[in-house]
Amino acid sequence: MKVIVLTDKEAIGQAAGDLICGLVSQKPDAVLGLATGSSPVPTYLRMAERHREGVSFQKVKTFNLDEYCGLPEAHENSYHTFMREQLFSHIDIQLENTHFLDGNCADEAAESERFSRTIEAAGGIDLQLLGIGSNGHIGFNEPAQAFTGEAFKVALTPSTIKDNSPNFIGSDIPMPRFAMTMGIGQILRAGRIILIATGEAKARAVKAMLEGEVTPQCPASVLQKHPDVTVYLNPAAAALLSDHPIE
Ligand code: GLP
Repeated sequence: MKVIVLTDKEAIGQAAGDLICGLVSQKPDAVLGLATGSSPVPTYLRMAERHREGVSFQKVKTFNLDEYCGLPEAHENSYHTFMREQLFSHIDIQLENTHFLDGNCADEAAESERFSRTIEAAGGIDLQLLGIGSNGHIGFNEPAQAFTGEAFKVALTPSTIKDNSPNFIGSDIPMPRFAMTMGIGQILRAGRIILIATGEAKARAVKAMLEGEVTPQCPASVLQKHPDVTVYLNPAAAALLSDHPIE
């Protein structure tokens, strides 16, 4: 995995945003896998900036990693809302080209199949953007006994509930205990992966991902098996690595 340590979140957002926009300029109908959380926000800001400078997302298709169960799509804390507010309303993407798992589906297996088929029909994901949970999760693939395959409904762990609960302060619906998430197998099929981690709360997970054994106890460690992963870190997230190049 290629590890790039940059001084701050803004520099990471600029680098990751430019990389994604470079792909979109080369391949205007690129298929992007997108992530939520605070880590990708500066990347989305940069993508919006590059759009204002002329990059078009008209033909781009997107697939989001995950969505909470039990939140209406339009709820202020849903990942649908997050993506509209942080990215989609700032670029010229066609909303019908943006795809999500339905966190309120009645039949999870059918929903998973629908999502897999839609990705396949789009030609597969060219580039997947990821954050990482402090427990090493990617998407909402929590530490587990085995690596997952396609999308599924997951019970969130106490650590994830603790990490994400602050986003639900003042919300009329409490932080959900379940989510629909892309599976690990699905994530690994992306042609290229970019993972962003910043802050000392991520340092242990980052070390386990890059220097630990490949184990479903640290789901992100599976990325060691992917041939094209770029990891962007700030110095705090890289602090526990034995070897960390600063750019
Ligand atoms: C959530 C998302 C993950 C994300 C993680 C980290 O759990 N499901 O995809 O990587 O949060 O979020 P943050 O970037 O805010 O630390």
